[in-house]
Formats: sequence, structure tokens, C-alpha cells
Amino acid sequence: MKWKGMVFALIKKKISAIVLAAGKGSRMNTPVAKQYLLLQDKPVLYYSLKAFEDSNVDEIILVTGRDQKEYCLDNIIKPYHISKVTQVVEGGKERYDSVYQALLQIQHSDYVLIHDGARPFITIDVINNMITQVIQHKACVLATPVKETIKVVDAYGYITATPDRNMLWAAQTPQAFDYEMIKKAYTIFFEQRNGNEAVTDDAMVYGNYLGEPVKIIHGDYRNIKITTTEDMAVANAILNELLF
Ligand code: CTP
Ligand code: MG
Repeated sequence: MKWKGMVFALIKKKISAIVLAAGKGSRMNTPVAKQYLLLQDKPVLYYSLKAFEDSNVDEIILVTGRDQKEYCLDNIIKPYHISKVTQVVEGGKERYDSVYQALLQIQHSDYVLIHDGARPFITIDVINNMITQVIQHKACVLATPVKETIKVVDAYGYITATPDRNMLWAAQTPQAFDYEMIKKAYTIFFEQRNGNEAVTDDAMVYGNYLGEPVKIIHGDYRNIKITTTEDMAVANAILNELLF
């Protein structure tokens, strides 16, 4: 037993989580950014931080705006004892700027899970499964099969294509990667970028700039991203369902 424990300690991988909360929430259009709106008395951001706290990750890097650092410390991290937060990093203009800032601040890690702070319904079990999956696949993304028929439309609003729905998945977060590889992908992206790239998730950076495969992991439809006002009503309904 003792030896087993020692061997486990030797091969134990360091797992970091980056939780993103530096967005302005322009599509939500509320005075307070959506990650700080209250869901049953607690800020949206609390729920994902708590899930990561109770999961097998070793550290959490929280990315937020310069003016929200104190709010996060005083209203979430301290009162709810989110002890795994090792750094609160200032984000950037675009989501990819915020991710890159956090990746640069990680001193050493084996794997990193990148999560939208606007997705409060991520669970401990799903986080722990993503850790198992990333150790096996090096890069994986939580996603759900698309329910709607998706249309590709031209600049004038006319349909140009209808991709086969059986091949379409909606990407969620967390997205999990070998730390050195995703850092390399982001470094290449920042060296080559011209400002016109429509980069909306981390798997795009990893796939486009390293050319390495990314595995899809079947997720849950409840893991919504709060994006527009009606999502708060849906979020309250999901929370009620999870609690009772
Ligand atoms: N995010 C971030 N830094 C940015 C932009 C986004 O950390 N510069 C975070 C958001 O806080 C959110 C996640 O990335 O948790 C997903 O982004 P999105 O849903 O697009 O949020 P916003 O950019 O805030 O919203 P919008 O696009 O409507 O302005
Ligand atoms: Mg955005």
C-alpha cells in the first residue's frame, strides 16, 4: 500500500484549470457582466469555481477584468473558500487574449482545462472525466450533438449549404489540453495573427496551429453558456432541477 502510494505520487500529473471571467457580455446587455449576475443568491461565476474546487484539479487560475479582481476575492473566493485559486490574472480584449495571459502565468503544469466562467452547470464528475480523457488523448473538447438543422448563409442572407447534421457538434467547455502543446499553439497563433481571425475557442487554436487531433467528449445539454437574457430563465430552471 505504501509503495503504491509512492508510485502514484511519482506519476501524479499536475492539472491546472483556467476559468475565464474577463468578458463584457455585450450580447447580454446588462449593467453587470453576466458572470456576476446572481443565480439564486450566488454569482454565476461561483458555480463553476466551486465545481473546480471540489474536483481533482490542483490549481485554478481565474481570469477577470482589472476592476473585478477585488469583487471576486471578497464575494466569491474568500466567502466560499475557493482555496485552489492560486492566481487572479487580468484578461485581455478578446477571449483568446485572456486565455493566452493565463497560459503565460502558469509556471509548470502537465494538463490544462480551459473553462468559460459563464457556464455555471459544469459538474465535478464531468471535470474529473475530462482529466482522465486529456491524459489519454492530449486534447479534448466537451460537446453535444446539434439538435437544429444548421444553415450556411451568404452575405445577403441566402442559404448556400446545409451541412449533414450527423457530423455537427456544438462545442462547450471545458476544453482540455496537454499544457506545453496548447501553450505552443497559442504562441504560434500570436506570432502569426493579423487580427482578422475569428477564433472563438481553444480547440480551433490547437487544431489550426498545431495540426494535431482533438477528441470530442459527449457532454450534457445542461452545460449552457449564459449568453443572452433568456438564458438566465433557463439557468434558473436548470438550477432548480439540479437542486431538487
Ligand atoms: N471572456 C474573457 N475575456 C474576453 C472575452 C470573454 O475572459 N476578452 C470570457 C467570458 O467572460 C466568458 C467566456 O470567455 O466566460 C466566453 O465568452 P462569451 O460568452 O463570448 O462572453 P463575453 O465575451 O463576455 O460576451 P459577448 O461575446 O456577448 O460580449
Ligand atoms: Mg465574447
